[in-house]
Amino acid sequence: MPTRSRPFIVGNWKMHGLIGDVGHANAIFAHASTLPDIDVALCVPATLLMQCTGRFGPERIGAQDCHMAQSGAFTGSISAAMLCDCGASLTIIGHSERREGCGETNAIVKEKAQAALDAGLGIILCVGESHETRLSGAAIAFVLEQIAQSLPAISTRALENNHLTIAYEPIWAIGTGLVPQSADIAAMHAAIHGALCNRFGADADHIRLLYGGSVNGGNAADILSIAHVDGALVGGASLTHAKFAPILDAAATLAKKA
Ligand code: PGA
Repeated sequence: MPTRSRPFIVGNWKMHGLIGDVGHANAIFAHASTLPDIDVALCVPATLLMQCTGRFGPERIGAQDCHMAQSGAFTGSISAAMLCDCGASLTIIGHSERREGCGETNAIVKEKAQAALDAGLGIILCVGESHETRLSGAAIAFVLEQIAQSLPAISTRALENNHLTIAYEPIWAIGTGLVPQSADIAAMHAAIHGALCNRFGADADHIRLLYGGSVNGGNAADILSIAHVDGALVGGASLTHAKFAPILDAAATLAKKA
């Protein structure tokens, strides 16, 4: 099982991607297969899951959300079991665009995370502060509280299988071109790592901490070399091979040096 030392670079396609765009995923995974020291996944829209898992394999394909119920009268929603049925192996949970835009509280995020883990999916649990919280000096306390409130109980076995990844994504850095100071990313990731060690002991070594928010080919090497940054969750720069490849290359270069 990969431990934290193996970089994990995940693309979050959000509500982008038609069937005609699967060619971008093809080029991305062709490139990734030349980089044996890193793990690469794409979280694609639900409409592309079947096609992508069939083409690229389940371990490389994730979803972006799931409902907390197994099934039922929830028009328009998709359950964790349905994601598994499509061959997905992981899903993002609690992205700030869902916390903010869809009213997902920590309690809802926790239920969704539980449902996904129960179905056997890996989760990428997203946390991150607003700009106001950052300016107030309470960012670390806020994020640690988000983790405490939205992360359900998780078995040692699930941890050993790398079913938990945490993505720190400052809301104000997502899609804005703004990136925190390296020292602020380092402080946040060290604090999250410390909290996970307190909660899970040595098993915290299986939990990779991703940074997300305006990662691109120009800043990836700097961000990925920060202590306790084990990878990146990448939105806009994951949509094409041309933009994503330099990020994968930066991760692979650092992994080789480690
Ligand atoms: P961005 O998005 O890389 O476009 O800032 C990151 C994310 O929301 O996961």
